[in-house]
Amino acid sequence: LPDPPLIVLDRVPERRRPELLALFANTWWTARRDDAAVARMLKGSGVVVALVDPTVDRMVGFARAITDKTFLAIILDVVVVPAYRGRGLGIRLIEELLSSPDLASVDSIELVCQPELVPFYRNLGFTDAVGRSLLMRRTNNPLLTQSSP
Ligand SMILES: CC(C)(COP(=O)(O)OP(=O)(O)OC[C@H]1O[C@@H](n2cnc3c(N)ncnc32)[C@H](O)[C@@H]1OP(=O)(O)O)[C@@H](O)C(=O)NCCC(=O)NCCS
Repeated sequence: LPDPPLIVLDRVPERRRPELLALFANTWWTARRDDAAVARMLKGSGVVVALVDPTVDRMVGFARAITDKTFLAIILDVVVVPAYRGRGLGIRLIEELLSSPDLASVDSIELVCQPELVPFYRNLGFTDAVGRSLLMRRTNNPLLTQSSP
């Protein structure tokens, strides 16, 4: 990891939005998002975490959550830039979200992930033992009803 350490931001300033779009370009479900949609998304996300490597002044990780601050929070768009993966940034992103005041006393924190990431999230205290619950989805985005690439 870089020295000096990563900077943790709790919002994405306008000048860093291109860096977030570049980060999103790496991931199948976020790759086609445009600037206006991402700006609106950021406004509507209760909790945002961005990791910046100060040595290159660039955003290298991002995650967000939407929440009612009481019963439910949903974690979304957890992404680390490929060259920085496998060095603990993913864990750091989730820990930063979980420690934010808006999520600290929420009953249930939920997320959707691909099967290969079950161990990653299990290690962070999530379980896939959800009783008889199933995910139902009503979507305009065809990417979300296909098998991921
Ligand atoms: C998932 C992601 C955020 C993890 O970030 P990361 O910085 O590589 O994760 P960490 O270095 O904190 O990983 C912690 C542990 O999880 C494991 N892990 C991470 N990604 C994994 C993957 N894709 N498959 C299996 N295990 C994984 C690592 O092996 C590591 O354990 P180890 O230290 O014992 O090796 C990153 O791989 C990514 O951006 N992937 C593409 C986007 C994505 O799929 N996001 C998840 C949305 S639900």
